[in-house]
Amino acid sequence: MAALKALAAQLLGWLLAGAGIIALGQPLTPALPLTLVQGVLAAGIGVLLRSERWWVAIHLAFSPAVFLALRLDLPPGLYLAVLVGLTFVFWTTFRGEVPLFLSSRATADALLALLPPRPGLRVADLGAGTGGLLRRLARARPAVRFTGIEHAPLPWLLARVRAHGLANLTMRRADLWREPLGGQDVVYVFLSPRVMPRLWEKARAEMPPGSLLVSSSFPVPDAKSERVIEVADRRGTRLYTYRL
Ligand SMILES: C[S@@+](CC[C@H](N)C(=O)[O-])C[C@H]1O[C@@H](n2cnc3c(N)ncnc32)[C@H](O)[C@@H]1O
Repeated sequence: MAALKALAAQLLGWLLAGAGIIALGQPLTPALPLTLVQGVLAAGIGVLLRSERWWVAIHLAFSPAVFLALRLDLPPGLYLAVLVGLTFVFWTTFRGEVPLFLSSRATADALLALLPPRPGLRVADLGAGTGGLLRRLARARPAVRFTGIEHAPLPWLLARVRAHGLANLTMRRADLWREPLGGQDVVYVFLSPRVMPRLWEKARAEMPPGSLLVSSSFPVPDAKSERVIEVADRRGTRLYTYRL
């Protein structure tokens, strides 16, 4: 849906920009001002279509960036390489799912303070990215079993390599929606507002009574959190905790 909206905004942006140029009696030749106008129109259409903010920013910059890149006359293989690289990092983000951005160290420390002092505790990070948060926790709590679930190939590979030597940390390449949560005492997520209702449904269906769901930055709509922890990092992260 997000990809369709993006395509519609770009095409309509070009249609309107082209129609405007023709109406003004100007020649329809590629030029930076034309791409800037198209960018503004596409971004406006993106806003009207209620696209996420980052899509609006992409619309604004996309055509001018393509125009400028073409003038650099770079080898076509470079574009393919960048596309392949981004695909392996962001995977299904284009479907409107969750992009890669990482929790701060202060957030990892705040989560650490939430873990009950019980050996054998099981903790999962759903959408673990490059695994930095889990590595920090696994070093601090060797008697706790940590599992990271990540579906994007490159972040998962990096996380897996960097988890080497930490016996209490497992990084698995899997879809978090197919991951059973019945064996987890604490589940941490840093995803997006869009997926929180579905995640809450899954947690309530699968997590054992008394277990804890911790969501960074995005609360579960219509559910009362047990605690809200303000983290002293640059992002002003908030951790929302939910007791199952
Ligand atoms: C915002 S990042 C959080 C990374 C890490 N948990 C942290 O806090 O530093 C979200 C991650 O979730 C991953 N992700 C999104 N949808 C997923 C899915 N269906 N299954 C597994 N991972 C997913 C993304 O690839 C991304 O790496």
